[in-house]
Amino acid sequence: MAENKNTKSQHISKQEIDRQKQYMQQVADLSLTGRMACVQTYGCQQNENDSRRICGMLKEMGFMFTDDLNQADLIVFNTCAVRENAELKVYGKVGALKHHKRRKPSLKIALCGCMTQQEQVAMTIKRKYPHVDMVFGTHALYRFPEILYRSYQEERVFETESFDGAIAEDLPILRDNPVKAGVSVMYGCNNFCSYCIVPYVRGRERSREKYDVLKEVRQTVESGISEVMLLGQNVNSYAGGCDFADLLSEVAQTPGLRRIRFMTSHPKDISEKLVRTMAEFPNICNQLHLPFQSGNNRVLQVMNRKYTREHYLELITMVRSYLPDVVLSSDVIVGFPGETDAEFEDTLSLVEQVRYDSLFTFIYSKRHGTPAATMEDFATEEDKSRRFGKLLDLQNRISREINESYVGKTFELLIEGAAKHEKAMLAGRTEGNKLVHLKGSEELTGQYINVTITEAQTWSLIGERS
Ligand code: SAH
Ligand code: SF4
Ligand code: F3S
Repeated sequence: MAENKNTKSQHISKQEIDRQKQYMQQVADLSLTGRMACVQTYGCQQNENDSRRICGMLKEMGFMFTDDLNQADLIVFNTCAVRENAELKVYGKVGALKHHKRRKPSLKIALCGCMTQQEQVAMTIKRKYPHVDMVFGTHALYRFPEILYRSYQEERVFETESFDGAIAEDLPILRDNPVKAGVSVMYGCNNFCSYCIVPYVRGRERSREKYDVLKEVRQTVESGISEVMLLGQNVNSYAGGCDFADLLSEVAQTPGLRRIRFMTSHPKDISEKLVRTMAEFPNICNQLHLPFQSGNNRVLQVMNRKYTREHYLELITMVRSYLPDVVLSSDVIVGFPGETDAEFEDTLSLVEQVRYDSLFTFIYSKRHGTPAATMEDFATEEDKSRRFGKLLDLQNRISREINESYVGKTFELLIEGAAKHEKAMLAGRTEGNKLVHLKGSEELTGQYINVTITEAQTWSLIGERS
């Protein structure tokens, strides 16, 4: 197994990137029946960011974009492997594409992302889904132009080798949100939490050079985006020439950058220096996502999380001593193999003690090849859903109580555009990343306005311009 350290990162050579740029030109020069691409992304912000690169490359190759699978001449599914549900959804969708291909034989179908980085998945696609033209893993992303070109030469392309990818800089990127953007600072993970597939599909930690991160942030802000989220599976082990706190303070000094967020922080690595940096710069948002996974020490140990409940709670106290109003969120797993009802109660009591603004709650999903997959499990599915329901009820109550304390207060919102699920409403976010709906013109998108909260709901707030 890999060494547990963040080694000096290798870069894909400039010659290789130039070679891919030549392929972009070659695809652009092909005479194709249509160039409408539909790129669908599953999973986390890392995958979302990879999809922005795929779209950037596609644009250079003359493609336009659609959300409608029926309109597409090229379909790309960027997949996630973190839980079984995510995989099943993709298999279902890919199966259904058989009919699209029958109707439009020129249609090209590509699968990429974390799921394809697993050997058994690549084999299954090879054997059972012959209508898929291209499969490429996370390490081959930068070779997409070449892969696509070969596919247009009627080759079925599988590029899912598992060696750790070097970092590819200087690939085009196409942002799809005019207001906020993610910028990767590192890739991969060395932590090997016993339930998690990410280290196997994303490889070891590699940090981008500070210079490259700062350059991308600057370019993003120059394009009119004023909120940036720095991304990595474990940003606190960033090692691209400085530590993460120093990187953050340099990013914070980018002219025009109004809001900076970052995720994810691992409790074993988050430093007081980082929290001090957050307090020092007003444009580093007063918000922290700090996954705890379980409130029980035995479970944490078997999960290989490398911290205790007590240490985690001390961290929360330390964070609140610098940032009293910090908006906190976390990830929790319910039903880890061997978790008892009593151990689960420790998770509930931790949630009660910390009082998170929001939680991402997951029922444990067995991932082939991880240590937890072979651990004995006594709890039934009913036990797990009962625990899950209890956790949701508790968090919903806390979220609502916290949200109710917002009523009557005024916050600065960054308007993100039309609300997704509320008709004729705008959506905006506070510095703490709270979602607020309000009436107003879509022309306000991208602007910062002051809003007074008039009503609290469990997952969002309602406000009016003050
Ligand atoms: N690197 C981040 C997030 C990784 S994946 C971190 O460590 O916090 C996002 C979340 O998915 C994890 O925090 C965990 O709560 C959840 N997760 C990962 N593997 C899982 C599994 N096998 N079953 C259920 N949830 C899982
Ligand atoms: Fe998975 Fe743990 Fe790495 Fe997060 S820190 S990606 S949960 S192995
Ligand atoms: Fe999923 Fe890969 Fe992210 S497994 S959660 S898309 S790193």
